[in-house]
Order: sequence, then C-alpha cells, then structure tokens
Amino acid sequence: MRKIAVLTSGGDAPGMNAAIRAVVRCANSMNMEVYGIERGYDGLIKGRLSRMDSRSVSDTVHKGGTILKTARCPEFNTEEGIRKGAEVLHAYGIEGLIVIGGDGSFRGMNDLNKLCGITCVGIPGTIDNDLAYTDFTLGFDTAVNTVVDALNKIRDTMTSHDRACVIEVMGRHCGDIALYSGIAGGAESIIVPELSFDIDAICNKMNMNIIKGKVSDIIVLAEGVCGCEELKKEIQDRVKITIRTVKLGYLQRGGTPSMADRVFAARCADRAVTLLKNDMSGARVVGIKKNSIIDMPVDEALKEKRIFNKEMYEMAAKLSF
Ligand code: ADP
Ligand code: F6P
Repeated sequence: MRKIAVLTSGGDAPGMNAAIRAVVRCANSMNMEVYGIERGYDGLIKGRLSRMDSRSVSDTVHKGGTILKTARCPEFNTEEGIRKGAEVLHAYGIEGLIVIGGDGSFRGMNDLNKLCGITCVGIPGTIDNDLAYTDFTLGFDTAVNTVVDALNKIRDTMTSHDRACVIEVMGRHCGDIALYSGIAGGAESIIVPELSFDIDAICNKMNMNIIKGKVSDIIVLAEGVCGCEELKKEIQDRVKITIRTVKLGYLQRGGTPSMADRVFAARCADRAVTLLKNDMSGARVVGIKKNSIIDMPVDEALKEKRIFNKEMYEMAAKLSF
C-alpha cells in the first residue's frame, strides 16, 4: 500500500498522540503517504482529512488528548453512514485505515471492512483496559498512575482528619483501573463490577480497621458498580468513621502519557503500518501479549471474553490486612 489514513475514535486516551506520531513517521519512513482524519468517524463521513508528514507530528509525543480530535458518531452505526465513510476513502485513493480506539471503534471498523471492503487495522486506545485479546490497552498505564497520584494526596488529608474516602474511578464495565490503582495506592477495599461485594463485610472491615489502629480508610470504587455518593449513603450510618467521596472523572483521561504508554503506542503503530505496507487484507487489531506485539482478525478479538484477574484481587485483600 502507498496511501493510508489514521483516526482516533471514542474516548480520548493518553498515548493517542504518541500513536498518531508513530503511524505517520513509520509510514513516511516506508514511503507511504498518511492522511489524518479529524473527529473520528464523524470527520470521515464529512471528509475532514488532510495530509500529515513527519513535521506535523513534531512536539506531540508527550501530549495528552488527541491532536486529531475524537468523537462518538451515531451515524456510523448505520449502513448509510458507513458507506459514506468508504466513499470518502475511495475518493482520496486511500487503501488502508488505522483506527485508534476501543471496542466500539473496532466494531465500526469491522463493519467498514465487511460492508465496503476497506482494509483496516485497530490500535487499542482506551483507558479502560477492557479488551480481552490484549494484556493492556493504550492509556491504561497513564490513567492508573494518575489515579495513584490522586489517591496519595487524598490519603494525606484522610489521615490528617481520621477519615475514610470512597474514590470513584472510571473503566466503564471493567474494574481494572480500580484494581491496579487500589493495589498500587494501598487501598483498604476495592470494589469492581466483575465480582459481587458484600456491604456488611465492607462495613465490618472499616470498623475493624479502626480497632486495628488504622487512621484512614480508602475504598476504590469502579464506576461500573455504582456512584460514590450512593455507596456512601449505604455505609455511613454503619461505620464509626466520617466518609468523604471523590469522583475523579476526566482527570483520568488527560495528561502526559507514561513511558509505558509511549513505547506501547510506538510498537502498535509500527506493527499496524507494517501490516498495511505488506498489503494485508480484511480487518485486524494489534495488541500486546506477554510483552510481544500481536495482531489478529478483529472478529476473533471481539469474541474473546475478558477474564478478571481474581488472583490479584485476592492479593489486594491480603495487602490491606
Ligand atoms: P470506544 O471505541 O472507546 O469503545 P464507543 O463505544 O463510543 O467508544 O464507539 C466509538 C464510535 O464507534 C461510535 O460513536 C460509533 O461511531 C462507532 N461504533 C460503535 N459501535 C459500532 C457498531 N456496532 N457499528 C458501527 N460503528 C460503531
Ligand atoms: O471509555 C473511556 C471512558 O472514560 C469510560 O471510562 C467512561 O465510562 C466513559 O468513557 C465516559 O464517557 P464520556 O466521555 O461520554 O463522558
């Protein structure tokens, strides 16, 4: 292939710019032209694309967000929308598309391939770490580090005041941000949507912690379970410690990407461009397994079932003993 395009879609994630930059530079170094599509599938349908070169991605590797902007585009969920997108790509003579996004974006890319024969490669860009086929998604490492940083600061205040705090973190239906940040930040309890939890046990643990001499108590709550205020209402009257709540929200999506996310972005982009250079067909996704970059058909990837790491969850309980 000689002419490809790249877009970012769904929620932004730290490392998306590092991935765009690597796509452009790897492609240019292999004599391929790159078009950047603005605002995900919405920009594709509207023909908002322009040539990118190595200089247009200068000074972006460390930046959060996405220089191509992103969007959620309901029109792309329709056959008409998908066909419009394909027409734009045909009009520009673009032979392959790289989509940086999560599972929704991958479904869109799969439809684009199935309905219109456009060759596509997906790079897993989402803070949620909710894709089963890859050990990690781009942005997850940075988001977890952001949460840990917040947790450290909140801990200082909770300890100074002898208080407890329920910290609500993102992740959609996935508890990985809660699990990893809870372990790294020394949370007393972690609540995730993958496993049922017992309110009585949480309250007993909080009261026992006071007896054991703990002066603060942090509960990391994944948003897929319930909101932090809702949980506070359930437990405040049953524990002997004042509870505060913090919903970290969009703090988790922005910010400079970590080393791990920048390197991962580069490795994924290099594989994606190489696949297109070698004239692959169909729709594939790239990811990481046991520190090796892998690629596979998107159909297969989306069928894989996520397995929550129960062993790590049980370890977290031991660490908060
Ligand atoms: P993410 O990619 O982060 O999971 P979304 O689920 O919001 O984010 O999906 C991003 C976009 O991908 C949607 O706004 C829509 O344009 C497109 N998309 C999602 N699901 C499909 C689908 N089943 N068919 C076609 N396009 C889809
Ligand atoms: O998928 C990333 C994510 O931040 C989820 O963790 C969260 O549930 C959702 O996006 C929030 O989406 P919005 O940008 O529409 O508020």
